[in-house]
Amino acid sequence: MAALFELVPRETKPVETSNRCIKTQIPVPESFPLLREMAALEPDLQLFQPPIIWHHSEDGYKICDPYGNKWIDFSSSILISNAGHGNPVICDAIRKVVDKPMLDAFNFPTEERVEAAREFMSVCPIPDAKVFFLNSGSEAVEVAFRIMRIAGVKKNPRKKVIITYQNAFHGRTLASTMLGGTPEFKDWITAPDPDIYQAPWPESFDFAWADPESPEYDEEKMFNTFLETIEKNKINPDEICGVFIESFFAPLCHKMPASYAQKLRKFCDEHDILLGMDEIQIGACRSGKFWCFENYGIVPDLFACAKGASGSLPISALYGRRELMDVFGPGGHATTHSGAPVVAAAAAANIRYLRDNKMWEAAAERGKIVEARFAEWKKQYPHRIGYAGGIGLGLSILFANKATHTAQPEFSFKLLNNCLDRGLLFSTPNNHYSNFRFVPPLNIPIDALNEGLDVFAEALAVTDKEMPPY
Ligand SMILES: Cc1ncc(COP(=O)(O)O)c(C=O)c1O
Repeated sequence: MAALFELVPRETKPVETSNRCIKTQIPVPESFPLLREMAALEPDLQLFQPPIIWHHSEDGYKICDPYGNKWIDFSSSILISNAGHGNPVICDAIRKVVDKPMLDAFNFPTEERVEAAREFMSVCPIPDAKVFFLNSGSEAVEVAFRIMRIAGVKKNPRKKVIITYQNAFHGRTLASTMLGGTPEFKDWITAPDPDIYQAPWPESFDFAWADPESPEYDEEKMFNTFLETIEKNKINPDEICGVFIESFFAPLCHKMPASYAQKLRKFCDEHDILLGMDEIQIGACRSGKFWCFENYGIVPDLFACAKGASGSLPISALYGRRELMDVFGPGGHATTHSGAPVVAAAAAANIRYLRDNKMWEAAAERGKIVEARFAEWKKQYPHRIGYAGGIGLGLSILFANKATHTAQPEFSFKLLNNCLDRGLLFSTPNNHYSNFRFVPPLNIPIDALNEGLDVFAEALAVTDKEMPPY
């Protein structure tokens, strides 16, 4: 089994609280036949999450396996369950459509689809906009790319350049990979789009000028790095059709200075460039506002959302100004399952729940609690932590040697297992397996959040002793 995690059971100390229960070895030996069957049937690439069988959720923030173990979930299954796992209003909405029954409808009109569009539009800050439903985040990014190009070339055949960002992540399809900024993900692309260029995303781990704790911090320089990318590549700004940027740098859970976003917006306006944003990870209340870009006081021309905006079943959405969204004409772009009735009903219920319960406030309140603990740990473990921060309840800690810029996957795996064995669940750290995303459901009760943070503190102290210095 070529997996990141070995199927070797570890002894655990029993844990029993109202939020957590660990009563077996981890990983659970009884689960091995199922895990081995998965390994035999699916490509190895599916085997990258901790080998815990997700059986059901409890109270929106606990994940239970079939063997009586229970974890506090800090993953939201990759930032999907902002409204909580198995949210009853979403489950009821799904049940209603299943009971009709009406499971599929291609692009024929349904009440559920229109209801979803109505709910999504109720939280759209772009004036006079439309929303296009797709299936995945990558697909919404592809459509944003297509619209930016078509709209640009219509104005001027040379207006086709797109600026994106180094190390950004926008998905795994061809266009979303090209827009993304990780060279290792692109080694299979033999004919890369020659009109995509990448600027540095202003993040503090790689760039001292973007690190508020560094004497070199310089907000002027930050936007100059964008302008330098254009100058260095001899690009005429009027030939840029779009800039596409994550409103939060997903590889690190990193926010952007508002001044950078505002300068970017101004630059785009001055040169008739479409500003597209990727809200796929941080959108739908996690940032402390409904959409993350609202924290920066700007509105993009287009933006893509998926994970937290779906809340459960697969759906993504691209928002944009009316004239941009109508650029294809009827049937000019379609996909078989987009806006399927069950999925649309689930997503509509999710957006309604997030909006009516002002879940951005819950995210901001809980985020402050997590950030206070980050501040303690940064003081306690400066030799372990390369970056700790984020926005709202979209936060992470990167275990890395800041001086040498090296991620620490061995330390991180040990820490991850120490958390799992104590009843605290994370998804596999990203960014060279060293970045722990602290992204629980937004409605996690404060006592459960604090319990999870205490478990992390204990696991961190134990792992710090167990592992050699980097
Ligand atoms: C910032 C960002 N953009 C795009 C995507 C792609 O979304 P999907 O996996 O739904 O295609 C992801 C997924 O992780 C993401 O985090």
